[in-house]
Amino acid sequence: MLFPIKVQYYKGLAKALKVAAAVIPMPKPTLFSGADSSLEMCDAISQLGIKKLLIVTDEVLVSIGLLDSITERLSNAGVKFVIYDKILPDPTYTQVENGLKVLRKNNCEAVLAIGGGSPIDASKAIAALATNNKPIKKMAGLFKLRRAPLPFFAIPTTAGTGSEVTIVSVLSDPISHQKTPIIDPKLVPMMAALDGKLMRGLPASVTAATGMDALTHAIESYISVNATTDTEAYSLAATKLIMQNLETAVKDGNNIVARQNMAMASYYAGLAFTKASVGYVHAIAHNFGALYQTPHGLANSIVLPHVLDYSKDEITGRLADLAVASGLKTGSESKQQLANKFIKKIRTMLVEFNIPSQLDALKAEDIPKIAKLALEEAHMNYPVPKYMNQRTCESLILKMAA
Ligand SMILES: [Fe+2]
Repeated sequence: MLFPIKVQYYKGLAKALKVAAAVIPMPKPTLFSGADSSLEMCDAISQLGIKKLLIVTDEVLVSIGLLDSITERLSNAGVKFVIYDKILPDPTYTQVENGLKVLRKNNCEAVLAIGGGSPIDASKAIAALATNNKPIKKMAGLFKLRRAPLPFFAIPTTAGTGSEVTIVSVLSDPISHQKTPIIDPKLVPMMAALDGKLMRGLPASVTAATGMDALTHAIESYISVNATTDTEAYSLAATKLIMQNLETAVKDGNNIVARQNMAMASYYAGLAFTKASVGYVHAIAHNFGALYQTPHGLANSIVLPHVLDYSKDEITGRLADLAVASGLKTGSESKQQLANKFIKKIRTMLVEFNIPSQLDALKAEDIPKIAKLALEEAHMNYPVPKYMNQRTCESLILKMAA
C-alpha cells in the first residue's frame, strides 16, 4: 500500500492538472472528414496563401505511393513542397533536428504531417522548433513553448494515436532512450483531415494494434478522475465506434465505412484524453516501448486487461458504462457483471486479433526498473482512479511475462 500522505500529494497534482485543463484553452483543428478529405484540406492550405510546405512522413508511405494524390493536388493548387521521409517509429531528437534543417534550407513556411503518430509527433516538434529558438530538451515538459509553431497540418494514416488533435508530441532521447513528451496546447494542428480512404492498405495487425491504442485512450480517459462531461461523451462515443467497427476494419481493410468510423473514433478518443489524460496502462506501455521497442498499440493491448482487473473495484460503475456503450448489456445485469463482461470482451478481442497476452521480450530482472519508471510517470502526470505501489506494480507486470 502507498503511504496515504503520498496518495494525497498525487491527488493534489491530479487536481491541479484538472484546473489547468479547464482554464487553459484547448484548441481543436479545423476538421476535414470523409473519403478524399485530405485533398480538400490541400485546397484549404492553398487558400491560406502558403507557398511552400515541408511534408513530414516515412519512407514506407512514400514507396507505396500513398502521398501521390496529395502531392498532385498540392501542385495543382500552386503549393510547392519538399518531402522529408526519415521518420521512424518512436522518433528521436535527431530525426526532428534533421527535419528542421530541411525545412530551413528550403525556406518552407509550414509543415504537413502524413502518417501515423510518429510523423505527426515529429512534425509538431519541427514546427515548434522553427519558431522557438531552443533545444528540444528545453521544450520537453508542460507549456514550454513561448511562440506559436509554424502553421502545421495533419493527415493521419492510422486510426489510433489521436495525435492529430492532442497537445502532445512524444520524442525519444537518443542517448537515454527515454520518451520525453512536449505538452502544449500550441501543438494542436491548425487543420486535420480524417480520410479513411488512405487507411485501406494498413495491414490487419497494425489496424488491430492501433485500434486498441484508441480504445485504451477512450477507456483511460473515461476512468480518469479528471474526466468531465465533455470528455466522458467523447470517450463513450469512441468506445461505441471502436466496438462497432474495429473487427470489420481488421478483417476487411477495404471497408471504407469501417475505416472512416475508426478514424473518427481515434479522433474522439484523442479529444477525450488530451483533457482527461491516460493512466497506468500508458505508463507501463511507454516503458515497454522505451526498453524493448514494443510498438505502442501492442504494449497497451498487453497491459490493458491487467490494469482494469486491478482497478475494477474502484471503477465498477465506469466499466459498466463502457460495457453498455459497447452493446454488451443484454438484460438486467448488475454493474459488477457488466464490468466483468467489458474486461472479458477486451480479452476476447485480443485473441481474435492475434495479439499476444504476454510480452516475449520482458525480462524478470527488468521488472523493478520498469515498475519504478512507470509509477513515476503515472503519479506525476496521470489522474488514476486507484493508486498502486512498487510491489503491486511489479507483480502486475510479472503477469505479462511469457
Ligand atoms: Fe496511446
